[in-house]
Amino acid sequence: MDRTRPLIDPELLDPEHEEVRLTRGTRTGLPLAIAIHSTGPGPAIGGCRIRAYPSWQEGLADVLRLSRAMTQKCALAGLPHGGGKAVAMVPDRALAPSTRRALILDIADCIAQLDGRYLTGPDLGSGPDDMALIHDHAHGWAFCRPESHGGSGDSSPGTARGVVAALTAALAHTHGRGLAGLRVGVVGFGRVGRLVASTLAAAGARVIVSDVDDGLRPEAERRGRAWASTELVHEELDVLVPAATGGLLTAATARSCRATLVVGPANNQLADEGVEVVLRERGIVWVPDVIASAGGIIHAVCREELDLDEAATNARIDAIGDQVSRILEVARDQGTTTSQAARAVAAETEQPVSR
Ligand SMILES: NC(=O)c1ccc[n+]([C@@H]2O[C@H](COP(=O)([O-])OP(=O)(O)OC[C@H]3O[C@@H](n4cnc5c(N)ncnc54)[C@H](O)[C@@H]3O)[C@@H](O)[C@H]2O)c1
Repeated sequence: MDRTRPLIDPELLDPEHEEVRLTRGTRTGLPLAIAIHSTGPGPAIGGCRIRAYPSWQEGLADVLRLSRAMTQKCALAGLPHGGGKAVAMVPDRALAPSTRRALILDIADCIAQLDGRYLTGPDLGSGPDDMALIHDHAHGWAFCRPESHGGSGDSSPGTARGVVAALTAALAHTHGRGLAGLRVGVVGFGRVGRLVASTLAAAGARVIVSDVDDGLRPEAERRGRAWASTELVHEELDVLVPAATGGLLTAATARSCRATLVVGPANNQLADEGVEVVLRERGIVWVPDVIASAGGIIHAVCREELDLDEAATNARIDAIGDQVSRILEVARDQGTTTSQAARAVAAETEQPVSR
């Protein structure tokens, strides 16, 4: 990252967003971007991503795309929030612990300056302990602190529950069947993937898992999961669950995908928009991740802000299934892709942007 080049204020370059801040951390000098897409329904909410980018322009593009998606996610999840996102652009190597702490404080400073218009949470590269630090330095504007610190903790169980609700509803809609005997492949044996795999196996599905990290194989097998060394996307499956990072589905993998339903929590599942057309032509139903992955944020908001108990919160997460059914109905009735249908369903509930 060239630190001698000034970072421009891109606010005027993106009229769709309410506010975009691009700055450098005062302690670390690292580029930080916060995008507020909408505060129409309530303060913008979205995770804090800490990762390396080839250029600050790519970090900026990511924060704009992700904050826009958060507006749609909140609308579909019925949450009283608009979409926002924070991105910290770090070097492609591990940060020293003192630098990392300084970076989290830099992020907290930026959030504190936004007067509560943006609330953050964990995302790639950040976790509950970081949220505790931000919470303490930015007027409490962070979700998912550890439970020991008064927060709702790890969002993964809520996310996994939402994925299962989405999958169950989509399965009923597309195949008119339940989980027993279903052949499911889960790509990514991380925090969410392993929970989804356990729940589906407990419901009688035949689950096979894979991960780029072969070191996870003993843990998967200890939990009774079958391990695939090959790419699951080419396996004979009913359902594919993308639970890793990055664009699993390219035009090529979409052409060779043998599952007829794809639903999972991973962000950026489709390498580009054309992939969805290929999936649709092949009769493969794709449930947009903007709804399939909403369980974690529903859990955090319901527990920490709306003061709902676990049962009421779980009911709100399970309602993801109703939204998935609605999206699939709209796609079928209007002959659109499922992401177009998701946008249409979100627009039914989205509030106008407040300025
Ligand atoms: N954790 C949450 O609450 C949450 C919420 C919303 C969305 N998501 C998204 O869901 C996905 C999974 O989240 P997580 O918290 O389980 O992440 P994680 O980092 O715990 O697990 C991801 C796993 O995917 C594996 N992986 C990476 N690239 C892979 C590849 N090409 N093929 C196979 N495996 C690969 C990693 O080795 C890792 O084990 C991510 O895309 C995340 O952004 C998570």
